[in-house]
Amino acid sequence: MRAPMTKILLIGSGAREHAIFKALLRSNESPEIQVFGSTVNPGLSGQAAAYTSGPMTDPEAVVQFAKKSASDLAIVGPEAPLDAGVADALVEAGIPTAGPLKALAQIESSKGFARDLLQEYGIPGSPAYRRFTSLQGVDGFLAELNGHFVVKADGLMGGKGVKVSGEHLSSEKEALSWCREIVDSGSEFVIEEKCVGPEFSLFTFSDGKSVVHSPLVQDHKRAYVGDTGPNTGGMGSYSMPDHRMPFTDESDYRAAAEMNEKTLEALASKTGSPYRGILYGGFMATADGIRLIEYNARFGDPECMNLLTLFEGNFLAAVRGMATGTLDPSSISFRKEASVCKYLVPEGYPDSPKKLFPIDLSAVADCRDLYLGSVDERDGQLLAAGSRTLAFVGTGPTLAEAEAAAEALAVKVPGPLFHRPDIGTSELVQKRIDLIKSLRG
Ligand code: AMP
Ligand code: GLY
Repeated sequence: MRAPMTKILLIGSGAREHAIFKALLRSNESPEIQVFGSTVNPGLSGQAAAYTSGPMTDPEAVVQFAKKSASDLAIVGPEAPLDAGVADALVEAGIPTAGPLKALAQIESSKGFARDLLQEYGIPGSPAYRRFTSLQGVDGFLAELNGHFVVKADGLMGGKGVKVSGEHLSSEKEALSWCREIVDSGSEFVIEEKCVGPEFSLFTFSDGKSVVHSPLVQDHKRAYVGDTGPNTGGMGSYSMPDHRMPFTDESDYRAAAEMNEKTLEALASKTGSPYRGILYGGFMATADGIRLIEYNARFGDPECMNLLTLFEGNFLAAVRGMATGTLDPSSISFRKEASVCKYLVPEGYPDSPKKLFPIDLSAVADCRDLYLGSVDERDGQLLAAGSRTLAFVGTGPTLAEAEAAAEALAVKVPGPLFHRPDIGTSELVQKRIDLIKSLRG
């Protein structure tokens, strides 16, 4: 007898969720996909069985939609609904959910919680840090760190809460005034040791017992070529055919994987609940091993587009397995190819982006590996909505081929958009390799 069709609710409506949507569609069970997003993304709405746009951080609204749609499974894309307790509400309503409960999602929503957890459970790889609720003691700790510090506002800040010495803060005086700004806004903050080295991401699929690690991926946060310009949500990312980074060795990979595993165990022990979803470790390869820079409770954007383009297991089975505590590691595998993701963003992004201009995809012959992000649709016309707009993924047996494939697609879209042609090129990768060589000798 055929199993009944899964009705899966996807929460979120960006390019990451478009990648999740496409991966679910490919999973040979033909699920019915329902979407609760913050916007109407035509990449998803065109094929969704049900679609609503509304407050994704309102657990009641999400549960109401899930009940009306008779959802029997859910996956949460972005962090804000997790922090708002959307997974808790769905689980309470009897809908197994891939996406951690609010208490577990604190690993992302509170930087202080994350550092304390690593310390309490003796998990190595976390830099020296201290939590503050006022300016008391800040002077002394900054002096201890001897000019190498990072100040992080606690809470979900959309990437805007972190300032690094030598990059955003040129003196201890500037650090103090940033701390004062945070305190005045009613938040707490963490000061930690600044680490030096190339960054990479490792995603771990977890059902609370079993884990499967993803290939390593590297994101590019700066807006402009050569890692210059303002910080963004991420302009693009690449991964390698061997699923490692060109600047990591096997002990870096093992250390990162172990750290994710130990953190999942610590979270379960601390909260009494299993972690069901994706744990995203943001790491740095330093002179003496890896350091954990941050944890997130979800897939990365853009890294998700690399991973799910390469995904060749049964993604629906993986989601169901995470959500119900029955993860079968054989449902997850990734093609041994390179991938490059390049985001097209509006001119002026991130500070003053152009908005609501038409997007012309007519020259893009193959939209299979195109993911729509911040877009809108009016009278059948696709419009750019002001943030990261279109993500193109190229894959191939080598990084050069994947890069060329992504670049060939990205240049096909006219209009006031820009992207980073350097992402995935050998010149940029060589800079990472040179950096790690200079650090490790
Ligand atoms: P986070 O939101 O914690 O990932 O921080 C954003 C970015 O700030 C990271 O991707 C790093 O580039 C940088 N950063 C955060 N923490 C540190 C650290 N301890 N040392 C050096 N850079 C850091
Ligand atoms: N890749 C950055 C993020 O998803 O937070």
